[in-house]
Amino acid sequence: MNETLQNIFKRQTIRSYVQKQITDDELDTLAKAATAAPSGRNCQPCHVRFIQKKEYLDGMNTDFKELVGYDTPAYTRWDVNPVYQTAPTLALIFAENESYMDAGIMCENIVIAAESMGLGTCIIGSIGALFDDERSLKWKEIFEIPAEYKFQIAIAIGYPDEKPERKPRFDDRIKVIR
Ligand SMILES: Cc1cc2nc3c(=O)[nH]c(=O)nc-3n(C[C@H](O)[C@H](O)[C@H](O)COP(=O)(O)O)c2cc1C
Repeated sequence: MNETLQNIFKRQTIRSYVQKQITDDELDTLAKAATAAPSGRNCQPCHVRFIQKKEYLDGMNTDFKELVGYDTPAYTRWDVNPVYQTAPTLALIFAENESYMDAGIMCENIVIAAESMGLGTCIIGSIGALFDDERSLKWKEIFEIPAEYKFQIAIAIGYPDEKPERKPRFDDRIKVIR
């Protein structure tokens, strides 16, 4: 099996990270992988912010928890983890309009590139609740994202500090029609 396929098959969501920042070279490669993503009509509507400042990660987490509640079971590992999953880097993808498909493709580019470099990731949709609220305007201003840009998806990134069990996949999702 070639390396690309190996990375696709071995990637798993990581929700526990070593408390060490990724290198600037790794960050630069992830930024290039994001930029290389295709987009509809090559509009390139997505803007990425890699947040590495702990004060901002914790600040967003507090705003998020105050918004949705501290004991809401709807969010994965809500009870033990902050919304950014303790990762030292959080990529936030915004788009100039609703561009979930473009953002999803960019997100997967980042995730598979990270996997190939030995980094773990967790795609995070739940933080979108914060960006539906007006308290996110402060964060958009700090991150130099225009207020009208829409949050699409986030990705926690860092060195993995766990090796979770592989989650099974349904085997009835694909059919070949001939
Ligand atoms: C669009 C999307 C949103 C997700 N949002 C969250 C989230 O908010 N919090 C979280 O802990 N995991 C989140 N995940 C991770 C999924 O729970 C995880 O991918 C899924 O359980 C499959 O596990 P695997 O990635 O290890 O194969 C999200 C994944 C995707 C694709």
